[in-house]
Amino acid sequence: MIDLHCHILHGLDDGSETAAESLQMAQALVRSGYRTIAATPHMVPGTTWMPSIDRINTQVAALNQTVKDNEWALEILPGMEIAIDPRIPDLLDDHRLLTLGNSSCLLIEPSFQQLPLGWEQVIFSILAKGYSILLAHPERCLQLAANPGLIERLIGSGVYLQVNWGSFLGQYGRAVALTARLMAVNGQIHCLATDSHHPEWHHPAKIMAAIGSLQKMIGEENLRRITMDNPLRVLNGEIPQPMIRSEAMTGSRKKRWWRFW
Ligand SMILES: [Fe+2]
Repeated sequence: MIDLHCHILHGLDDGSETAAESLQMAQALVRSGYRTIAATPHMVPGTTWMPSIDRINTQVAALNQTVKDNEWALEILPGMEIAIDPRIPDLLDDHRLLTLGNSSCLLIEPSFQQLPLGWEQVIFSILAKGYSILLAHPERCLQLAANPGLIERLIGSGVYLQVNWGSFLGQYGRAVALTARLMAVNGQIHCLATDSHHPEWHHPAKIMAAIGSLQKMIGEENLRRITMDNPLRVLNGEIPQPMIRSEAMTGSRKKRWWRFW
């Protein structure tokens, strides 16, 4: 699998605190079945969380070297998780932002409650500059969760949606879990990612358990699409494929799923 959202670099945000912890995270990700990950420390314009591109690239290179020394089959790519902000177009012009793995795609983080005023213009400006957008965990944004039509509009305007594994595991509460499941059965997920902050957070056993239940819900092909094929397409500058709307996602089986939930 390919993980496009992970706070594995130490000392830059609320993710890994030490180089040793970063290594533990790398090992947990390898054991969970990941072979490529994008290191995406928080970039929050106007705050102290504004890591420089040089620092991220240096830490990524050092971590790749240690992973290689340990003979683990894992490649770490540079990236950032950029909080949605009207200053993003200027920061892009100033070359202060990193795409995912040097692709043309930016990982953009929505607010947890209400999106900031003018957010649609920010998204439009980013797309107009020729970048694509992978929106991090929309299921955790109250405004989006309460407006399924808004999620459809985002997809319609070409924004890709990245849901967290942890949302399916109930890690962020029942409401977020419900939104994630609703997005899954509606075929509205382009990529799944760990959004790991600590070694234990996405323990391989948890990922494996989630894979089993998610596969039953959306089918093997869709699971492959959102964990492997689409993240690779994003890194290659290609358009991710929408989930296949199978019989499991419509009609009687969907109704049955709702009864259980
Ligand atoms: Fe994150």
